[in-house]
Amino acid sequence: MNNDILEILITHEEIINKCDELAKEIENDYKDKDLVVIGLLKGCAPFMMELIQHINLPLTIDFMTVSSYVGSTSGSLVIKKDLDLDVSGKHVLICEDIVDTGRTLTTMVGDLKERGASSVEVVTLLDKPEGRIVPFVPQYIGYVVPNKFVVGYGLDYNEVYRNLPYIGVLKKEIYEK
Ligand code: PRP
Repeated sequence: MNNDILEILITHEEIINKCDELAKEIENDYKDKDLVVIGLLKGCAPFMMELIQHINLPLTIDFMTVSSYVGSTSGSLVIKKDLDLDVSGKHVLICEDIVDTGRTLTTMVGDLKERGASSVEVVTLLDKPEGRIVPFVPQYIGYVVPNKFVVGYGLDYNEVYRNLPYIGVLKKEIYEK
């Protein structure tokens, strides 16, 4: 699996340190607030599991799985797994591995506000601003990455590579074969 990686962009150690840094900011912003961290599966999993362990607040967690309608260019999403918790009156922090076109997060922030959340913000490990189609600025950003095919730490190619402990660039020959 490591042989399929062209270069490592962000090491495991850097990710862990970044989780601690982001968690401190989040702690400061959410003290005395009813915080629910919502992960969008599956990419969020490694990052969210690390991040929440660094947040020293009494938070709750939940998960959703969403996907774009096949052939849709409008950004409309279908919910494949919905929340267990009621988020009305709660301060929601959506946790993501990457923001690319901005479609998923724009839609999800709107959806969760409609459910009555008191506030909805986004924490993302990676931001790829060159991929934006819909203007969207996450509140908390781990790293800005270039417009390259990045995998690892939750990010996949054909569902593989999510378990790499770092963020790497996938070799062209892998996704062009
Ligand atoms: C990825 C990522 C975000 C979304 C961001 O999920 O986890 O949810 O794409 O892309 P966007 O900004 O272009 O909308 P994906 O649908 O690949 O599912 P996954 O989390 O299971 O990998």
